[in-house]
Amino acid sequence: MARVLVLFAHPRPDRSEVNFPLFETAKSVEGVTAVDLYAEYPDFDIDIDGEQARLVSHDIIIFQHPFYWYSAPAIMKEWQDLVLEHGFAYGLHGHALNGKTFLNVISTGAKPNAYSKDGMNHSDIRSLLAPFEKTADLCGMRFLAPFVMFGAGRALEDNRLDVHRNAYDDLLKAMVADRFDLKKAAQAAVLTDVLDDFILKGEAV
Ligand SMILES: Cc1cc2nc3c(=O)[nH]c(=O)nc-3n(C[C@H](O)[C@H](O)[C@H](O)COP(=O)(O)O)c2cc1C
Repeated sequence: MARVLVLFAHPRPDRSEVNFPLFETAKSVEGVTAVDLYAEYPDFDIDIDGEQARLVSHDIIIFQHPFYWYSAPAIMKEWQDLVLEHGFAYGLHGHALNGKTFLNVISTGAKPNAYSKDGMNHSDIRSLLAPFEKTADLCGMRFLAPFVMFGAGRALEDNRLDVHRNAYDDLLKAMVADRFDLKKAAQAAVLTDVLDDFILKGEAV
């Protein structure tokens, strides 16, 4: 059994059409620890020791957030700056996160074709998540291709939200049960729409 930690960040969960429902899904999965960072730290007064202990006691760390200015909402940056300390997460004696897995579960306003070489951003979504990937690398963590809901503003009208929530549920349950092919998912561009390719049917890993 893998211990999965979901760190959720949304500054206005009351207005969230996509991420808040997805967080509700995460909370319902047995074996997942689901944390709402803005709710826990309304004054950004992050408990560094508590967060580090929580990281140590989990195998898979998920950042779940809307894609904001090609990054994450502010509390996630604050969390990284304070929690991923030298001597804990990196540096000569900082090995606490070695061998763990990192995943971004995100939603974007822009549609999938905006995140391509010929599209508006001239780049795919995984490349734009480079600061997260490089941070994971530095901390000795395996970075997985992101699980993305593109075009989030129309997800409800297009009836895509329930499908995506079910896929997130499948993803989390497979991870908890050690039935998610982490090696393969680390090589992919994106996990969305191809999730079944990564879920192991036979023996758990
Ligand atoms: C401050 C802010 C910055 C945003 N930056 C981006 C962005 O860089 N790229 C993008 O595709 N969408 C961007 N969006 C759109 C959000 O990603 C989109 O509204 C969100 O994923 C919807 O999720 P929610 O319903 O949970 O709020 C931004 C939205 C806001 C409010």
